[in-house]
Amino acid sequence: MALSNYTSPKWWKEVIVYQIYPASFKSSKPANEANGWGDVRGIIEKVPYLKALGVDVVWTSPIYKSPQADMGYDIADYKTIDSRYGSLADVDELIKTLNDNDMKLMMDLVVTHTSNQHDWFIQSAESKDSPKRDWYIWKPPRGYDSTGRPIPPNNWAQILNDSSSAWTWEKKTREFYLTLHTSQQVDLNWENPEVVAAVHDVMHFWLSRGVAGFRMDVINLISKDQSFPDAPVIDPSCEFQPGEKFYTNGPRFHEFMHGIYESVLSKYDTITVGEAPYVTEMSEIIKTVGSTAKELNMIFTFDHMEIEDIKTKGESKWSLRDWKLSELKTIISGWQKKMIQWDGWNAIFFECHDQARSVSRYTDDSDEFRERGAKLLALMESTLGGTVYLYQGQEIGMRNFPPEWDPDVDYKDVESINFWQKMKKLYPAGSKELKEARELLQKKARDHARTPMQWSDEPNAGFTVPGVTPWMRVNDDYRTVNVKAQIEFVGQDLSVWQYWQQALQVRKSHKDVFVYGEFEDVDFGNEQVYAYLRTGARSKERWLVAMNWTGNDVVWEVPACIEVDEVVSSSLQATTVREDGTKVKLQAWEGVLARCK
Ligand code: GLC
Repeated sequence: MALSNYTSPKWWKEVIVYQIYPASFKSSKPANEANGWGDVRGIIEKVPYLKALGVDVVWTSPIYKSPQADMGYDIADYKTIDSRYGSLADVDELIKTLNDNDMKLMMDLVVTHTSNQHDWFIQSAESKDSPKRDWYIWKPPRGYDSTGRPIPPNNWAQILNDSSSAWTWEKKTREFYLTLHTSQQVDLNWENPEVVAAVHDVMHFWLSRGVAGFRMDVINLISKDQSFPDAPVIDPSCEFQPGEKFYTNGPRFHEFMHGIYESVLSKYDTITVGEAPYVTEMSEIIKTVGSTAKELNMIFTFDHMEIEDIKTKGESKWSLRDWKLSELKTIISGWQKKMIQWDGWNAIFFECHDQARSVSRYTDDSDEFRERGAKLLALMESTLGGTVYLYQGQEIGMRNFPPEWDPDVDYKDVESINFWQKMKKLYPAGSKELKEARELLQKKARDHARTPMQWSDEPNAGFTVPGVTPWMRVNDDYRTVNVKAQIEFVGQDLSVWQYWQQALQVRKSHKDVFVYGEFEDVDFGNEQVYAYLRTGARSKERWLVAMNWTGNDVVWEVPACIEVDEVVSSSLQATTVREDGTKVKLQAWEGVLARCK
């Protein structure tokens, strides 16, 4: 077997990446200019805050010029900053401020599609002879129905609106164009070498300005099956069907990724992470993240994010099931071991702007247990192998907003709105189905991650000046759940923020164990306690993580092969009464980190 590179030190393996959702992070604007949106200068203001937490790299969700049909994931100009966020000069200053603090900036690269307002698409739509026509994917209708309505080229559904066709009709030239996510996000035609060159150019533009790398949006959807076949009918009651198998890791995906590597990435010292939905096969994934793959450093995989989904109806996220701890262990531990075995690299994340809050999904977000749950997740995330990604607000245990919030008013995300409108069309007010739809929104909508960051107990949670209406409503709990209270907290235990800060310090001072170390499950069949051992790659030091994933106290029998030496930290440090080294008493939702003999 070839020598593994898994343990060879790289800066991008060791960093803590913090994702900022710019609209909701911090507004720097005074009362006379404030518009309810966060901005780049707001991020600059908070660099010392991020430094104190232990962050090394900041990843900003898109801040480019955009009509915001999908909150900036619909880019109208890759080289201009949206005026609501600031200017190129502001970004230059952000890069400098970060660099001065020994930190880096990572940007979101959204090149699977552009906005329909991008000049490339405007030109492309003008005529069939436009030099930009072939920059996007145009097809004539399959035919016309009895009412004269054009029939789309195939039956693919939109990802963010599954009751719509993935193809959008353009009246002037009487053809459809491919819009996999929403009708405003037009898929680029990567088969055209001019498109590939234009993307490379955009990447050089940002890297040469000092950006350290990219998170690449749905990057594994860039190569489509060029025969554009119909998708299998999974739900006969729907006109359109999920077509991802024809555009995920498609025929030329790896060729395109190699091209990016050769022409762009290999010329800089970058950090790269691909958002790669719908792919689970290790033999396929390793082609992208293998240490000699020459594609990307790592990808985000989604098995743990989809643990509550019922998969019988294709990929729809609008379903909910109960899951057992062993299922989560299978996923999390599985990725840990697979990446070591196959010589790849993990991106560790439990939140992002597309997922509800982790404390609400995986643990218990009641007032009684929210802090414990958030700290348990912090312990887990900070002790897993891979590069750690922390999402804004996760460090204070922000939770989903309450069930009373009105889907017609308080939800702003295009995916949630489409789902709610569809359900309202299908079912009458007061029906069981609409009640269930509301529950699904309350559990799973992307909106929960997008409420303004809770900085303090001041009006608008300190996100923007009082008297201004933020673009999205502030979660009702900001008076108790906020950064200021948690940083200043003095008590028996640590606040969630203080615990994260400590957990990141522990990780950084034991990289050999937590970043590069081996991973071994302990007591795998236990449905209450998730425990694993991390062993230093070089030092061979052994550390035990044991977490009680229930709301009851548990006395956990430590397997005989492990001798606990010293409990180094606990999420409930002040109150825990520990038993001897063969048993550990874990309170509800408590996690401990122990050094072993
Ligand atoms: C990615 C983004 C998501 C966006 C979609 C389309 O999944 O994370 O927010 O809606 O791509 O760009």
